[in-house]
Amino acid sequence: MKDFKGQVAFITGGASGAGFGQATLFGREGAKIVIADVRGDAIARAVGELKKEGITVHGIQLDITDREAYARAADEVERVFGGPPTLLFNTAGVNNFGPVEKSTYGDFDWLIGVNLGGVVNGMMTFVPRMIRAKRPAHIVTVASLGGFMGSALAAPYSAAKAAVVNLMESYRMSLAKHDIGVSVVCPANIKSNIAEAVRTRSDKYGATGYVSNEESIASLHSIYKHGMEPLVLAGHIKRAIEENQLYVIPYPEAKELLQMRFKAIVDAVPAMETDAEGAKKRVAALQEWVSTGAKVFVPPEDRK
Ligand SMILES: NC(=O)c1ccc[n+]([C@@H]2O[C@H](COP(=O)([O-])OP(=O)(O)OC[C@H]3O[C@@H](n4cnc5c(N)ncnc54)[C@H](O)[C@@H]3O)[C@@H](O)[C@H]2O)c1
Repeated sequence: MKDFKGQVAFITGGASGAGFGQATLFGREGAKIVIADVRGDAIARAVGELKKEGITVHGIQLDITDREAYARAADEVERVFGGPPTLLFNTAGVNNFGPVEKSTYGDFDWLIGVNLGGVVNGMMTFVPRMIRAKRPAHIVTVASLGGFMGSALAAPYSAAKAAVVNLMESYRMSLAKHDIGVSVVCPANIKSNIAEAVRTRSDKYGATGYVSNEESIASLHSIYKHGMEPLVLAGHIKRAIEENQLYVIPYPEAKELLQMRFKAIVDAVPAMETDAEGAKKRVAALQEWVSTGAKVFVPPEDRK
C-alpha cells in the first residue's frame, strides 16, 4: 500500500504513545482514523487534538480483551466509515515488571490477555471482514524487542510478545493471497506513557505479585522518557507498509542483541554430518507432506 488517503485505520491504544503517533501520521496522510482505547478520557483528548489538525477521527472506548465489545466496535466502524478497516494497527499493550517467580495468575492473565489475547481478538474480529471486503489492506502489530528474548523481570510480557511475533509471521503467509500485508513492529524503547500502564489493570485480575507503586512507575518513566518519538516510529511503520516489510525494528542498538540471540540458537544445532541420513529422511518426508498430505487441512473450496 502506497497511498493512505481515504484508507480506514483502526488503531488500538490510539489515545497515547505509539498509537497516537500512528493516528497523527496516518491522519495527516489522509486516512480516516478510529482510535480504540480502554481510557475514555484519553480518547477524548486525542480525538480533540487530531480534529484540531483537520483529521477525520472517530473514538471508540474498547477493552481489547472483551470479544463481544470488539465485535460491536467493528460494527461501529462499518457504520461510521462504510466498511471495515483497510489499515489495522494492533498497538495497545501493557507492561509491568517483577521477578517471574513472584507472578500471580492475575499477572499472567492481564499481561498475556492484553498483549496476546487483545491481538488475537483484533485478528479474529477484523481479518474475516477484511477478506470479505476484498480491498488491499495492511495489518501492523506492535510487539516488542522483548519478543525475541526472555526476561527475568518481564516474563509474561516477553512471552506474549514472542507469541505475537510468531503469530504475525503465520498471518503474513496466509493473508498474502488476499492482498493483505502484515508487519510486526519490535520496538526497543518508545517515548510513551507505558510506565503508567498498571493504572489500567482491572481489579478483576486480583492481586499482583510485583512491586507496583509510585516509585516503580517513576523508575519506568526514567527509561521511556528517552525513547523514540512516536511520530518517528510511525514514519518507520509507514515505510514498512509501503514496502510490505515483515519485521520493523528501527533500533540500531538491537542488532548486536539479536545477533547474539540467534547465534546462540544456531550454535545449538549440530552439524549435518552428525546425522546426515536421518536429516535427509525427515526433510524429504516434510517436503512430501507439504506438497501432498497437507492439503487435507485446507477446506475444499480453498484448494487450488
Ligand atoms: N514504550 C516502549 O518502550 C515500548 C517498547 C516495546 C514495545 N512497546 C509496545 O508498544 C505498544 C504501545 O505502547 P506505548 O508504549 O505507546 O504505551 P502507552 O501506554 O503510551 O499506550 C498504550 C495505550 O494502550 C491502551 N490500552 C491499555 N490496555 C488496553 C486495553 N485492554 N484495551 C484497549 N486499549 C488499551 C492504553 O490506555 C494506552 O492509551 C504496546 O504494545 C507496547 O507493548 C512499547
